[in-house]
Amino acid sequence: MNPDFPHVRMRRYRKTSSIRGLLDNVQISQKKLIWPVFVKPGSGIKEPIPSLPMQHYLSPDVLYEEVAKVCDMGVSSVLLFPVVPTEIKTADGSYILQREGLMAIAVASLKKQLPNVTVFVDLDMSEYTNHGHSGIIDAEGIVQNDETLSIISKAAPILLETGADGIAPSGMIDGQVSVIRKSLIEAQMDDRLILSYSTKFASTFYEAFRMAARNTPKFGHRQDCQLPITDVRQAIRESLLDEQEGADLLMVKPALCYLDVIQAIRKRTDLPLGAYNVSGEYNLTWNATKLNIGDSHKMAHEILTSIFRSGADFVITYWSNQIREVLNAYK
Ligand code: PBG
Repeated sequence: MNPDFPHVRMRRYRKTSSIRGLLDNVQISQKKLIWPVFVKPGSGIKEPIPSLPMQHYLSPDVLYEEVAKVCDMGVSSVLLFPVVPTEIKTADGSYILQREGLMAIAVASLKKQLPNVTVFVDLDMSEYTNHGHSGIIDAEGIVQNDETLSIISKAAPILLETGADGIAPSGMIDGQVSVIRKSLIEAQMDDRLILSYSTKFASTFYEAFRMAARNTPKFGHRQDCQLPITDVRQAIRESLLDEQEGADLLMVKPALCYLDVIQAIRKRTDLPLGAYNVSGEYNLTWNATKLNIGDSHKMAHEILTSIFRSGADFVITYWSNQIREVLNAYK
């Protein structure tokens, strides 16, 4: 028998939607979301991405129209990924060093139309190399860390030259944050943010993204770059190392299977910490309504809430462009 009963009755807190809202201590705010967007060269392109329902490949000239819609819903940050045509990809991914390349053009046009949008550019060699690995590889297909660093450090200021607010290095190359920081300072871009994919697991949940970005490794795997899902201490160290190297913002990726990791890193750093609600998490949830196993938007609400509850300050999510439905689903 509960000694406080009948005086303490928890159901009083939950009587009406207004009372429940008053007492909420975690809320999804559109300001805390980043929308990932895939940019294709060309003009007038708005092409559905088969592996990511409701997401589109966009060319630089039409990008702002779609970002403006998301801004109207209160989301004001985007993360851009390049979809580089196969014929431009090389073994050393040198297109990443092209001045006025795809990313620079996309950022210039976006910033011209929507100067207040916060724009991050992904930096990963896998989107530029013809073998799909995140750097220069040797004959065995192993990424050569320090050779890769020299390209990455040159690439960062080039990708940001048209006014992007931050760079998001995602290849998990050791030392990448420190070389990027150094080269941004040299390029007098010390006002740009480094959003490091600091704790990135070797996850199966990236497949839908890889189909979309066409950066699946042609052979081998990324297990020497990405974290084993079974080692939480190493996962924490990776983020703490990036803090030491000069990252401004840390990130855990994926989000949903790693809420414990978000919580653990949150306790070890005062840096802002984000989480990436990745393609597989999105695709599975999006399909729930179709499969008649629950309301996708309600599930998305529950998932995003859980990510914030675990300690994330911001979330990178494909739900950003459907955030109205997601927020309305929870009443
Ligand atoms: C690498 C990158 C990946 C994702 C974002 N950046 C995947 C990879 O390592 O191939 C995955 C994001 C998602 O699944 O939504 N540039």
